[in-house]
Amino acid sequence: KLFALTKVTALAALLGASFGALAEPVEIKFSHVVAENTPKGQMALKFKSLVEERLPGEYKVSVFPNSQLFGDNNELAALLLNDVQLVAPSLSKFERYTKKLQIFDLPFLFDDMAAVDRFQQSEAGQKLLNSMNRKGIVGLGYLHNGMKQFSANNPLHLPKDAEGEKFRIMASDVIAAQFDAIGAIPVKKPFSEVFTLLQTRAIDGQENTWSNTYSKKFYEVQSHITESNHGVLDYMVVTSDTFWKGLPKDKRDVIKKSLDEAIAFGNEIAAAKDEEDKQAILASGRSTLVTLTPAQRQQWVNAMKPVWAKFEDQIGKDMIEAALAANK
Ligand code: LMR
Repeated sequence: KLFALTKVTALAALLGASFGALAEPVEIKFSHVVAENTPKGQMALKFKSLVEERLPGEYKVSVFPNSQLFGDNNELAALLLNDVQLVAPSLSKFERYTKKLQIFDLPFLFDDMAAVDRFQQSEAGQKLLNSMNRKGIVGLGYLHNGMKQFSANNPLHLPKDAEGEKFRIMASDVIAAQFDAIGAIPVKKPFSEVFTLLQTRAIDGQENTWSNTYSKKFYEVQSHITESNHGVLDYMVVTSDTFWKGLPKDKRDVIKKSLDEAIAFGNEIAAAKDEEDKQAILASGRSTLVTLTPAQRQQWVNAMKPVWAKFEDQIGKDMIEAALAANK
């Protein structure tokens, strides 16, 4: 009898061991819409290598760039369904879940990326990471891309040069209001469609960072880029409450630390790429740079700044003041 019991125990141990060996690592899917040679693309790959190095065999990270798995229209819904565990949409793309992040779209609010960073790291900025908690979305950190520039098929020196032209915009009512303010026509479209829309002249222009304009070749189908630095394009790396709380605490800590390091790495790339990609575009000779004089730029400011007042109630006057305080 004792022998039989031992045999059963041994068998169970054997089975257990083989099940253990067969256990698949838990997959963390990270989906994004940009190319790999971008701050977000590189950050995602860095995160993958850090997690797989620190939790070998236990967790694996699958990165899907270029809207391959999910695009702008469905990545947040997919996150809430746990079909993907990490996404990092631009701050302009959360409007359905919170109006608070609209602050980042206010034209001419931040002087530069250093100011954006100071605001994000401030108490007010950190609070915004929790602005979608009630919707089941957890903000894990901010990631930089850069300041936005306008591109078009004519030189945009003054706001009136954009009158009547169609501009592709991200799904943001603030950005729509910004183009309305200068008599242009904003068209909300997912990032994956921008190149074709520009190429076929279905739209006249767009606004984006040097990095996105370069990596997606928008500069090949736009004759002019106006260096306006009129707004910011940054990201929030988000996960779902369900996935995040379901992780064992010790694993979650390793994953969060890896993410923080990957974000720091991505931010360094963002700073470098901003200048590098701008230079690569200029060197290509495919589109011409339009540099604004201070007086010309002031006209864009005057035309677009009234947008702030329209969204002040939704965003909060105190938030706008906190953001302005980050400009030095
Ligand atoms: C865009 O849609 O233009 C950007 O938000 C794309 C991105 O993720 O940088």
